[in-house]
Amino acid sequence: MTNLHTPLCDLLEIQYPIVLAGMGSWGMATPPALVAAISNAGGLGVLGCSNLPAVEIEHRIAAVRSLTDKPFGVDLLLPASLAQAPGSRAAVRQEIRENHPEHWAFLRELHEKFGLEERPFQEDHVISTKLIREQIEATLNARVPVFAAGLGDPAIVVPEAREIGMKVMGVCGSPRNAIRQVKAGVDVIVAQGTEGGGHTGAIANFALLPQVVDAAGEIPVLAAGGIYDGRGIAASLALGAQGVWVGTAFLVADEGGLPSALKDQLVNASTSDMRISPYWTGKTVRAVQNAVSQAWDESGLPPLPTPHQRVLMEDFKEAAMSAGRFEITMNAGGQGAGGVTRRRPAVDIFNDLVESTRTTLDKMRSL
Ligand SMILES: Cc1cc2nc3c(=O)[nH]c(=O)nc-3n(C[C@H](O)[C@H](O)[C@H](O)COP(=O)(O)O)c2cc1C
Repeated sequence: MTNLHTPLCDLLEIQYPIVLAGMGSWGMATPPALVAAISNAGGLGVLGCSNLPAVEIEHRIAAVRSLTDKPFGVDLLLPASLAQAPGSRAAVRQEIRENHPEHWAFLRELHEKFGLEERPFQEDHVISTKLIREQIEATLNARVPVFAAGLGDPAIVVPEAREIGMKVMGVCGSPRNAIRQVKAGVDVIVAQGTEGGGHTGAIANFALLPQVVDAAGEIPVLAAGGIYDGRGIAASLALGAQGVWVGTAFLVADEGGLPSALKDQLVNASTSDMRISPYWTGKTVRAVQNAVSQAWDESGLPPLPTPHQRVLMEDFKEAAMSAGRFEITMNAGGQGAGGVTRRRPAVDIFNDLVESTRTTLDKMRSL
């Protein structure tokens, strides 16, 4: 049986080159139990911490450490363009009301259309350069083995991380952004094709991966987007990646924290249900298409910058989720959802990925 081991495994001190993608989603998508399950299975679990205050990140890191002694990572979003925004949600709302009345009216109309009571999102913090700095500090202070930057330029983190022996990963969606990651000095580049869930670009993996591998030179590359079984992993290796960064296939794991109804939506979704829209954060996000994304398309409104669009839509999400209206809640996921057809423990999903990759590689060898 083929051994599934690449130099990336030695770099990250893991057994198999399979990484749980860092997924934010208000801390629901990748809770400590899921992160530890993937690390304990021989991969690398990554905590998605993008929206969380520093103190919550510290708690979650400690929770992972109580469940595993294996390496794991923390993922943060470092948006290259962050609109000059006041640090509080209330102040961002005020700016939207004053400067973008059509968007404010769209939100009111959505509540009316779906018969929801207004229920603004309670947490006061919004993504800001101050919050990001605090998140980075909490991660560095905890000496987490791996830091992953989902959006933007991790150059500001690399020197400090290197000093304490932490590995840095940077995600890119284009060959141009791969060059930015090389310049930032990252240890690993994640190439995410448009197939992927959450924030995603426009270039598909067959074109993207080999170009990122070429741009990366000696830096190992992880493939991301649309990978849900061993065929996708073997194809990624064939295109030059040394491993994979898998999101959607692990979102439905028993240890994942998404509400059950959202996991069921993903399990039942077809690939063509997984559409890209900027309505959620102002940047292109792939998620299950629903009546809200359709209403956004019909509105003809331009998306607001980050974090304004997100603050606007998080108020709607809060109203929808607290009313149990999961059919109109944003549910991010990739095109691979069409191939994800059942819910089970993370270790079963992980072991199947390993075994089906070996089977695929063996089959290819016999050709
Ligand atoms: C629900 C969800 C939330 C995500 N949140 C983040 C995030 O906070 N940071 C990040 O770097 N990537 C985020 N992503 C992208 C993933 O890290 C990963 O690149 C993507 O899921 C890979 O594609 P796949 O879902 O087809 O496996 C998110 C993806 C999903 C589906």
